Amino acid sequence: MLYQPEKILVTGGAGFIGANFVHFWLQNYPESRVVVLDALTYAGNRANLLSVEGQENFRFVHGDIRDYDLVLSLLRDEQIDTLVHFAAESHVDRSIHGPDEFIDTNVIGTHVLLKAAKAVWLEDPLAPRPHRFHHVSTDEVYGTLQPNEQPFTETNQYAPNSPYAASKASSDHLVRAYHETYGLQVTTSNCSNNYGPYQFPEKLIPLIIGNILDGRPLPIYGDGLQIRDWLYVDDHNRGIDLVIRQGKVGETYNIGGNNEWTNIAIVKLICNLLDEKFAGNEAMKKRFPQAPQVSGGKGEGLITHVKDRLGHDRRYAINAAKITTELGYSPMESFETGIRKTLDWYLDNEGWWRAVMDGSYRQWVELNYSQGH
Ligand code: NAD
Ligand code: DAU
Repeated sequence: MLYQPEKILVTGGAGFIGANFVHFWLQNYPESRVVVLDALTYAGNRANLLSVEGQENFRFVHGDIRDYDLVLSLLRDEQIDTLVHFAAESHVDRSIHGPDEFIDTNVIGTHVLLKAAKAVWLEDPLAPRPHRFHHVSTDEVYGTLQPNEQPFTETNQYAPNSPYAASKASSDHLVRAYHETYGLQVTTSNCSNNYGPYQFPEKLIPLIIGNILDGRPLPIYGDGLQIRDWLYVDDHNRGIDLVIRQGKVGETYNIGGNNEWTNIAIVKLICNLLDEKFAGNEAMKKRFPQAPQVSGGKGEGLITHVKDRLGHDRRYAINAAKITTELGYSPMESFETGIRKTLDWYLDNEGWWRAVMDGSYRQWVELNYSQGH
């Protein structure tokens, strides 16, 4: 049966996938209302939502998912029927250097949201109300694959290897438990690596683009033969949309692009695409004087193998047969078009990535928006 959200609370909506989701949702469902709750950590930028700021059906709330009273009042006052939960600490390397924030936000934070949702949707005087709690998770909960192993299905055993993956696995279990025990109407999606606009430049693809343009080394962990399954961010969000509206309550769905690449091959591809862009383009050369192409070099000359990530998962790959057969999902963007689009976005939005890296966007947004907007 089709479920149609009307009033949505999006946690982590100022981050990479969350911001793309808000744009996607308001374009496709302009009659619905979207409230974003985001703590604006280093990874969250209100500027990512500039194009929807000021719309009547959009509200931004600066706050923490661990603040139970705040979440409770938002669910009640805004009469939220659907919660889409993106907020998380999301970078594996950071989780290796400092796992605490990952446990606090990803585990405790998810539990606070579940408790508040249960209180409002299942226990309030008006309860039970029609509702959905959609939890956005990752393929990293399944651990790592050998080269000859089959891609992850929803029934693979959980075997998380990094503190990040373990924190996401814990949150997945809590979401499941709130359905089994209390009857909360939950769905979960586990997606592979995303790429596209607004991705914070600590992640592989935007990091490599920025480093080539600035002539910095391209750090390849270990031999660079680790494999990831890349999906354009809008295709992830289209999958989430399908799961929320048509998915079976209590179920989990894998989302992926059937698009496995070694890290080194992705880095070489980006190098080649940028070499092409620089060829005979004097304006590009003037804009990025440190790029190797300006002095007759190539992007690949910057490749530098560095120490491997601790506990580095060798391969992820998603079997998306369930969402494909049950909900009619298929990615719309090919990697060929998606990576070019992404490259163009970073070239057109140089101000964005420089500002999010040095934090100056935050000051700009503070100057331009009144408190409590
Ligand atoms: P991101 O790091 O770009 O954004 C995270 C957002 O959450 C930021 O806006 C941040 O300010 C906010 N946030 C962090 N802690 C918060 C807190 N305590 N309270 C409120 N807001 C908080 O992350 P992303 O890459 O957009 O990932 C979003 C979700 O998707 C995460 O749950 C992640 O595990 C999952 N996921 C990501 C990928 C990927 O490739 N990036 C793939 C599969 C699943
Ligand atoms: O699989 C989904 C996951 O994908 C999400 O759950 C995570 O939130 C998201 O960050 C991403 O995790 P990865 O660790 O796979 O992404 P990252 O971009 O950090 O790294 C991709 C691969 O590239 C990984 O094998 C590590 C490698 N790498 C990464 C960086 C930043 C390098 O070789 N050099 C680098 O400098």
